[in-house]
Amino acid sequence: MELIKKNRSYRRFDNSKKISMEQLENFVEHARIAQCSANRQPLRYSLITEKEACEKLYDGLKWAGYLTDWDGPVPEERPVAYIVVAAKNDLMDFEKVDSGLAMQNMTLAAISEGVGSCMIGMFNKKIVSEVSGFDDEHTILYVIAFGYPVENVSLTDVKDGDFKYYRDDAGNHFVPKRSMDEIIFKKI
Ligand SMILES: Cc1cc2nc3c(=O)[nH]c(=O)nc-3n(C[C@H](O)[C@H](O)[C@H](O)COP(=O)(O)O)c2cc1C
Repeated sequence: MELIKKNRSYRRFDNSKKISMEQLENFVEHARIAQCSANRQPLRYSLITEKEACEKLYDGLKWAGYLTDWDGPVPEERPVAYIVVAAKNDLMDFEKVDSGLAMQNMTLAAISEGVGSCMIGMFNKKIVSEVSGFDDEHTILYVIAFGYPVENVSLTDVKDGDFKYYRDDAGNHFVPKRSMDEIIFKKI
């Protein structure tokens, strides 16, 4: 539970602290053995640590849609590594769950060693495919950004139905979650 609580979406990192290719490979090792529909294992990963590639990929990502007055992390706080998650083109319906399970395993592996991450579904396909090298036989599903966090992210309760994350004046990030009473539909 402590690890899951810490495994938030982080969007500000210490850009001077690098992440190695071996660290990314270890995260993918956790995805490799994840549950997946019919055990077909359709997911493929591009691992990116090179500075220039990270800079180019960053330009294709959309950050924190609810924070309308924030343009994304400043250069010193940008991610230092990425994993691009793609699927072979014949992805079946149940397999849409596979990427979620794989990404959860990877982000938990990351936070267990202090590496924060953010899954990103809003991205520029052209830029991400150019940097990651995925061809027409693959569909790019998500980008995961990694780095050592420099922001506080805390959970709070949804109040008056408002689930949008927000920041206070000091830049602390808050993520409202619905209560148990709200999400448990029935106890039978
Ligand atoms: C499938 C998926 C796609 C996401 N896409 C984006 C995105 O494009 N940009 C972004 O800043 N955050 C993205 N997020 C992060 C969510 O905004 C975040 O999970 C949510 O606000 C809850 O915060 P938490 O992860 O700290 O619980 C995505 C998360 C998921 C699971």
